[in-house]
Amino acid sequence: MNSPWTGRQWQWRSLTPADLPSLTQCVELVYSHSPNPVGGAWSEEQLGLEVQHHCSRAGFFEPFGLTCFVLWQELPDACEIRLLGTHPQWQRRGLMLHLLRSVIKQIPRGKELWLEVHAGNRSARNLYEQLGFLEAGRRPRYYRDGAEAILFSYRPLFPPEKD
Ligand SMILES: CC(C)(COP(=O)(O)OP(=O)(O)OC[C@H]1O[C@@H](n2cnc3c(N)ncnc32)[C@H](O)[C@@H]1OP(=O)(O)O)[C@@H](O)C(=O)NCCC(=O)NCCS
Repeated sequence: MNSPWTGRQWQWRSLTPADLPSLTQCVELVYSHSPNPVGGAWSEEQLGLEVQHHCSRAGFFEPFGLTCFVLWQELPDACEIRLLGTHPQWQRRGLMLHLLRSVIKQIPRGKELWLEVHAGNRSARNLYEQLGFLEAGRRPRYYRDGAEAILFSYRPLFPPEKD
């Protein structure tokens, strides 16, 4: 069966500096509508640096615009997801599952993917567990509200490439 996210109104691609206004607006909406604590706020300047220097993938629906995004950074041994979110009007339709699966396919062979999440963020924890992320550790009193961060790690099944 075809994915509902592949019609001609959909575009899946990296973010560019031109997307910064819609990304900033989407992040603000995602944060302000979240029933779960999500973590620290991001300024437009910080988001601009992320888009410029790190990796991203996002889903755009014409004529709506940006519906969901993932920002991640490639480190020597791993990839770290820095920020992700789905626009409040598009949540709970399977969009982030779809987007994260495509991000996982882009992770270089042999690297693990990890992220940290506010312990009270049940939606995100459910999402990562559904995708096969495993809890890899905890950072006590990590967030400003005193909550701990849970570290999640996803290890691709294939072995690392040989030199
Ligand atoms: C977490 C978030 C990214 C999920 O995006 P989404 O596109 O709505 O997620 P999906 O529709 O693909 O849902 C996939 C799974 O995630 C979990 N999930 C998503 N929203 C949930 C909710 N409100 N309550 C419980 N579980 C939820 C479920 O396991 C869901 O699978 P199911 O619908 O089969 O039960 C979105 O709620 C969001 O942007 N939250 C605020 C930002 C945030 O928390 N970012 C993560 C910081 S680490």
